[in-house]
Amino acid sequence: MANAVVPGSFDPVTNGHLDIIARAAGMFEQVTVAVARNSSKTPLFSTEERLEMLAEVCTVYPNVTVDAFEGLLVSYALGRGATVIVRGLRAVSDFEYELQMALMNRRLNSAVETVFMMTGADYSYLSSNIVKEIARLGGSIEGLVPNSVGQRLQQKLGKPRC
Ligand code: PNS
Repeated sequence: MANAVVPGSFDPVTNGHLDIIARAAGMFEQVTVAVARNSSKTPLFSTEERLEMLAEVCTVYPNVTVDAFEGLLVSYALGRGATVIVRGLRAVSDFEYELQMALMNRRLNSAVETVFMMTGADYSYLSSNIVKEIARLGGSIEGLVPNSVGQRLQQKLGKPRC
C-alpha cells in the first residue's frame, strides 16, 4: 500500500477536509496532512495554529500525521516517502484549478500521482473561506467545523455565535 499526502491551506480545517482525511486514512498506509507554509493566500490562522487544530482532530487516526511544508509539494511528498497526493473535489468549479495543479505536479515529477476524492454530499458547499465569513458575521458554524475549531474561530474573531 502506498503512502499519501493530503496537502492544503487548512485555514482552518473543516468537516469537509476531515471527511477526505478519514477516507484517505482508510485507503493508504501512512497519510501526512501537509499544511502549506508558502501559500499565496493570507491566512487567518498561523501555520502553527493550523497544525495544532489539525493535530487535535487527527489523533483518532493512528496512521495520520500532521506536518507543515514549504517549496514544491511533489518534492515534499517524495521526501516523506509518499507517492500519492490526495485532493478533495467539490463542485465542477474546483476542477480547472485542480487539473492544472495535478498536471503541473505530474510534469514536475511523474513518480507522484494525484488522486481525487469526491467530497461527501453534506460538504459540497463547504470551504474554509465560507466558514470564516459566516463566523465573522456571527452565524452558526455548528456541524461545519470540529467543535475545537469553532471555539478557536470564535476566540480569533471575538464574535459570539448565534
Ligand atoms: O487548500 P489549498 O489552498 O487549495 O491548497 C493548495 C496547495 C497548498 C495544495 C498548493 O498551493 C500547493 O501545492 N502549494 C505548494 C507549492 C507547489 O508545489 N506548487 C506547484 C503545484 S501547481
